[in-house]
Amino acid sequence: MNTTPTQTSSSKDRVIIFDTTMRDGEQSPGASMSHDEKIELAKIMEEMKVDVIEAGFPIASNGDFEAVRAVAQVITESTVCGLSRAAPADIERCAEAIRPAKRGRIHTFIATSPLHMKHKLLMEPEAVLESITGSVTLARNLCGDVEWSAEDATRSERDFLRRAVEAAIKAGAGTINLPDTVGYAYPTQYAAMFRDLIENVPGADTVVFSTHCHNDLGLAVANSLEGVMGGARQIECAINGIGERAGNAAFEEIVMAIRTRSDALGVHTGIAPEHIMRASRYVSAITGFPVQYNKAIVGKNAFAHEAGIHQDGMLKNRETYEIMRPEDVGQGATNLVMGKHSGRAAFRDKLKGLGYELGQNALNDAFVKFKELADKKKLVYDDDIIALVDDALAHTADRIQVARLRVVAGTEGPQSAELTVTIDGVEKTASATGDGPVDAVFNAIRMVVPHTAALRLFQVHAVTEGTDAQAQVSVRLEENDRIASGQAADTDTLVASAKAYIGALNNLMARREKSAPDAVAANG
Ligand code: KIV
Ligand code: ZN
Repeated sequence: MNTTPTQTSSSKDRVIIFDTTMRDGEQSPGASMSHDEKIELAKIMEEMKVDVIEAGFPIASNGDFEAVRAVAQVITESTVCGLSRAAPADIERCAEAIRPAKRGRIHTFIATSPLHMKHKLLMEPEAVLESITGSVTLARNLCGDVEWSAEDATRSERDFLRRAVEAAIKAGAGTINLPDTVGYAYPTQYAAMFRDLIENVPGADTVVFSTHCHNDLGLAVANSLEGVMGGARQIECAINGIGERAGNAAFEEIVMAIRTRSDALGVHTGIAPEHIMRASRYVSAITGFPVQYNKAIVGKNAFAHEAGIHQDGMLKNRETYEIMRPEDVGQGATNLVMGKHSGRAAFRDKLKGLGYELGQNALNDAFVKFKELADKKKLVYDDDIIALVDDALAHTADRIQVARLRVVAGTEGPQSAELTVTIDGVEKTASATGDGPVDAVFNAIRMVVPHTAALRLFQVHAVTEGTDAQAQVSVRLEENDRIASGQAADTDTLVASAKAYIGALNNLMARREKSAPDAVAANG
């Protein structure tokens, strides 16, 4: 493993992008990702030239440990990071998980605010300082690249925070992260905190300062950018802004704000933004969290112009109403693409244009599904192909798969469903009635795969226009405080519903393995 701290650019104006979609992002209630999905996402991030990928919290569960280790094995360009609390067992487990990485980082943290120290840690401030020295020293003995975070930094007493940061630097941390853990900061105050620490802590000029902002007041991106104005040169963020509670600073907004307003900010990143849409769609597909239509950068309407006066301006000069080009982030117009006579080469080209590079097997599977769709649907649009491929990528590794479904619906009840699934390759069938066809399908699922999870969300939207449009269905289930989501698309709404429910069940099974210790669950 390389033991040099990640200082990816010699330029003082280069901002390191640290992605925490797989760690803080996965801590969003319901946003579980499978092992294979994390590896796939890490590959997209590496293509996008993300500097640091925080792949998980190795002590939290065997699943997290294995995922961090697998990402560390396949990623060679980005730094692969794991999170750990200040306890030796956490740090050692984290070091073990990132050991295969070409560039690895241990990220260790402890809370520094009076509230957290007194009520959560039950520790005196002096003991916290000792713990910082001990934990960072141990981490540095195991890995040359160590990041230390002062959890709840923005509600910490400034004098104490200065001492804590000084202790972390002295013990060998190369990156100092000052999180706005509860999304309480105001931009100018956040910038002032960085200025103060950079000016007043001995050794501050030898480390990289980092932002980590939560979005409770909708200020996460503004705070991160102001943190950079205050001297930070690393931003922690997550695709689509997912994360604890209201989420983290949105990766795509950070990257495009820095790129589009370099005149105001005077800094740059190394990110290749043309992969942003693909990353956003993939994260939405695997977590089951839809992206709102008017979401900046990645929303369906982010580059749509409706008002006549805007359309007129756009036709004359697109800069009249466009500050970024959709193609810069990989967001193409929804075109009529191909039909049932289109060949494999054209399909592969189309996928490439949409930002997908599939391996041979995945391409073959997707092509078969495309042909099936083209048989059912007259017009196949880019959005149809995106839904189809995301669906295929999200569900290939699932242990339970929908094999067949027959539903009786209509005005004469009871509505009924006969469902066959395969569980680890073995078929199982059940029939059920219900209060409507969706209820009948879900009752059949409960018979064929008995479980106690409660349905928390059932959401349907059409992928494109027209009565033959694919339905995209999201389902969220909850069992013993564990939440898992599934998403699926099909021209038959009931088939999509069954697949989305089964997808959520698969994710719930994966999540059952994750039994995080109390303190782990409490961190954002
Ligand atoms: O929000 C936070 O404080 C965190 C730390 C663990 C970095 O996620
Ligand atoms: Zn956080």
